[in-house]
Amino acid sequence: MIPSQSRPIGVFDSGLGGLTVVKELNRVLPSEDIIYVGDTARVPYGSKSPQTIMRYSRQIAFFLLKKKVKAIVVACNTASALALKSLQSLRIPVMGVIDPGARAAVQTSNSLKIGVIGTTATMGSHAYRRAIQKNKSRAAVWETACPLFVPLVEEGWLHHAITRSVAAEYLRPLLKKKIDTLVLGCTHYPLLKKTIQNVVGPKINLIDSAQATAEYVSRTLLSAGLVNANRRRGKISLFVTDRPRSFSRLASQFLGGKARPAAELSLDNF
Ligand code: DGL
Repeated sequence: MIPSQSRPIGVFDSGLGGLTVVKELNRVLPSEDIIYVGDTARVPYGSKSPQTIMRYSRQIAFFLLKKKVKAIVVACNTASALALKSLQSLRIPVMGVIDPGARAAVQTSNSLKIGVIGTTATMGSHAYRRAIQKNKSRAAVWETACPLFVPLVEEGWLHHAITRSVAAEYLRPLLKKKIDTLVLGCTHYPLLKKTIQNVVGPKINLIDSAQATAEYVSRTLLSAGLVNANRRRGKISLFVTDRPRSFSRLASQFLGGKARPAAELSLDNF
């Protein structure tokens, strides 16, 4: 039997976005093996119903359990908002990205005027507003859905003029509220960080929950005695539900060649 500490960490998202979390996990916990699932056949999650998001998330979690992961990181805000509670009934630690992101936002904001952008499902759940106000009840929070961002990222249009004008349109109402902090409440959005920062200007702090999440995962594994003590470099294995080649190309650009090519998986039997 494989000792718990040397088992991989399972990470999942609807597509490419969760790789922003993988990159940070690999930086903070370089010895850990990571198994990543991107549900590219069913992306985007953000426009789906809570029941569907829950069903998809459970299927992926069962696939990861079969791979004998020691913990699961839900590297998707949409699944964290709608499925985390249900996944936390599994027998291993399951962590999401919303609480770490919300904590980072209140630590960064001086005026406590905080904007949050994310998918339609995440914004509709108000999970961020609740998480931010749990940390600082007097924080003012404005949430805006940006449904066109995920397809633009999956298309690789990170710095395109169209992406910039879409961002300007979505962000105008938040800028009018004089926010000083903007939470990128979807793991796809850090890939648009430069474009978004250009639109909002240098005075607004962008919060990317990937870093805060990686640190939280590290603390959780440590306190559960699950950190891999082995000093070799961890492996990153990628699984996707469709188009593994195009995923591998974008993933290897983003992870600097650290992952092996993606394999295709079917979730039909989970
Ligand atoms: N990257 C995901 C998130 O953080 C999901 C985006 C989507 O599939 O709509 O919400």
